[in-house]
Amino acid sequence: MSDQPKGLKKGLTHYGDQGFSLFLRKAFIKGAGYTDDALDRPVIGITNTGSSYNPCHGNMPQLLEAVKRGIMLAGGLPMDFPTISVHESFSAPTSMYLRNLMSMDTEELVRAQPMDAVVLIGGCDKTVPAQLMGAASAGIPAIQLITGSMLTGSHRGERVGACTDCRRYWGKYRADEIDDQEIADVNNQLVASVGTCSVMGTASTMACVAEALGMTVPGGASPPAVTADRIRIAEQTGAQAVELARQGLTIDKILTPAAFENALRVLLAIGGSTNGIVHLTAIAGRMGIDIDLAGLDRLGRETPVLLDLKPSGQHYMEDFHHAGGMATLLRELKPLLRLEAMTVTGRTLGEEIERAGEGFNQDVVRPFDRPIYPQGGLAVLRGNLAPGGAIIKQSAADPTLMEHEGRAVVFENSADLAARIDSDELDVTADDILVLKNIGPKGAPGMPEAGYIPIPRKLARAGVKDIVRVSDGRMSGTAFGTIVLHVTPEAAVGGPLAHVRNGDRIRLSVKDREIALLVSDEELAKRSAEHPVVEPTAERGYRKLFLQTVTQADQGVDFDFLRAVKNTGRAPEDR
Ligand code: FES
Repeated sequence: MSDQPKGLKKGLTHYGDQGFSLFLRKAFIKGAGYTDDALDRPVIGITNTGSSYNPCHGNMPQLLEAVKRGIMLAGGLPMDFPTISVHESFSAPTSMYLRNLMSMDTEELVRAQPMDAVVLIGGCDKTVPAQLMGAASAGIPAIQLITGSMLTGSHRGERVGACTDCRRYWGKYRADEIDDQEIADVNNQLVASVGTCSVMGTASTMACVAEALGMTVPGGASPPAVTADRIRIAEQTGAQAVELARQGLTIDKILTPAAFENALRVLLAIGGSTNGIVHLTAIAGRMGIDIDLAGLDRLGRETPVLLDLKPSGQHYMEDFHHAGGMATLLRELKPLLRLEAMTVTGRTLGEEIERAGEGFNQDVVRPFDRPIYPQGGLAVLRGNLAPGGAIIKQSAADPTLMEHEGRAVVFENSADLAARIDSDELDVTADDILVLKNIGPKGAPGMPEAGYIPIPRKLARAGVKDIVRVSDGRMSGTAFGTIVLHVTPEAAVGGPLAHVRNGDRIRLSVKDREIALLVSDEELAKRSAEHPVVEPTAERGYRKLFLQTVTQADQGVDFDFLRAVKNTGRAPEDR
């Protein structure tokens, strides 16, 4: 047994007299009516990320109650505390700008306040990555609780859910296929309850990835937010947190290279969001583990997409839950998984798959030999346009565009795009390649999800549904199309993307994993010398910190000073 201080005795405030520090702490907490018996229990912190600005966490009161019940049933003392909460639609300029701030908030509050383990409650896209990043750095036993997905709605007899259907209906509206009344009607139906987006967007991706990492109780990824199953998971999570504290099962024993390899496999097999790579890279970086993009691409070639969820397939998260959730998927993927990876239950992933028992007939998770898509959803591209790599979600792309050469139609930044994309004067055809610069980590800043460049209105009206698009930004996991993202290095730091001009030829070959600018090195060097890039700066505050320290997509867009000091491994590991 470790003789480190436990419970309320941990991390005493420095007054120069430890006994007095504890005496004072207990005096204050007793002001809230606690007994010595309660205060002698293992203390379990709970991050309360409820916020009126975050409907994806709208079930927080019910979750908190159930987590606390679980903790107390297991003999612990629950202590919830607020942290930053980030919602996609209420975070300007973009939620990604705030992810690292939330991770710092989580890390420092977990470290500063006395707790033997922490329950992280998150759901909306950036929250789970931020919490796992923070907890990884804080180093104490931690367990993730997902808020759960929203229910689906119904519009004129058609099932709808955020946010793949949001984009689809908005696309119809832009193309004048539906009128003002219908777009207003559908707006009422897209989000039918509190909870996270109901398709395989970033929130669902990170929920599945968190379970694959071993950071949730089994079955923690899929129950919708408003169901009894979700509340039961919350109670179990609370109880398991007490066990984690008793066993001293710290997060470093769970977040190993094997766990990240499993997470990458699952990311590929669920047709997960491209954002999942950025977040996994950042979380792994906190443990000193590098995510190897070449290795990820190798995994992608052997890992089929099995989960039939929008936007790659047809179902929604609640259907995945009814089909058995992650147990069903992991059972199919078992031959590819690192079964020895430890989980928060104290058992390995392989043991948990065994405990989940036999599967049953369902049509949401395909059998391994009858996949929805033969390779993993994501492919890593390289070439002179992206020396540090780029990503395409091939499972959500138009197969006819994945081997394509076209003329670049360039937008210098988001404002330029907004000003010209719908102009009838825009010189563009369906064979062209739209290029958007300066939406990378430093460019926007915060690498917004603006990589889903809209189809120019004149092409949309003519019935064009997809066109090749290239940018240094991200896109929502709920989006679809032949879209090359995360071009690294970004334009704002002088990457080759900065020097693309209208009319240049670009070649995309997903088969060869290539994104090439068909312009000579000499010409690119000349352009660079004539128009050197000046990196963006800020005078003060968080923006200054962000612009000075944020890393590129291949480093997870984390701040450079937050990454682990020592390198401890890579994922996937060489075989
Ligand atoms: Fe929160 Fe989609 S907006 S998960």
